Amino acid sequence: MSVQIGPESLLEEDPQVVTVEGSRYILNELDDGTVVLYSTVCQHQGGRVMVREDVFRCPTHRWEYDPETGECLTEDACLPRTTLRREDGHLVGSLPD
Ligand code: FES
Repeated sequence: MSVQIGPESLLEEDPQVVTVEGSRYILNELDDGTVVLYSTVCQHQGGRVMVREDVFRCPTHRWEYDPETGECLTEDACLPRTTLRREDGHLVGSLPD
């Protein structure tokens, strides 16, 4: 199901955490212009992944994820993500699991 994530202007401060339908996600525009929405649920033990400078980091045990791919930098794991589309100045798409 497609939902409206927010205005396209959110990308002026990406990556950033956004709240959609009561849950938190990380919004990021990739180098090629693709806009993605990442789950903030850490793939280790479910901690909350946060945006920290050049990486996404879970503070619980410090797993770090690549903002471009969502891949964990030290383990074989990846943050679920969806690709968003731009419609009339808004970001629209499905939510990652
Ligand atoms: S729960 Fe995120 S690193 Fe352990």
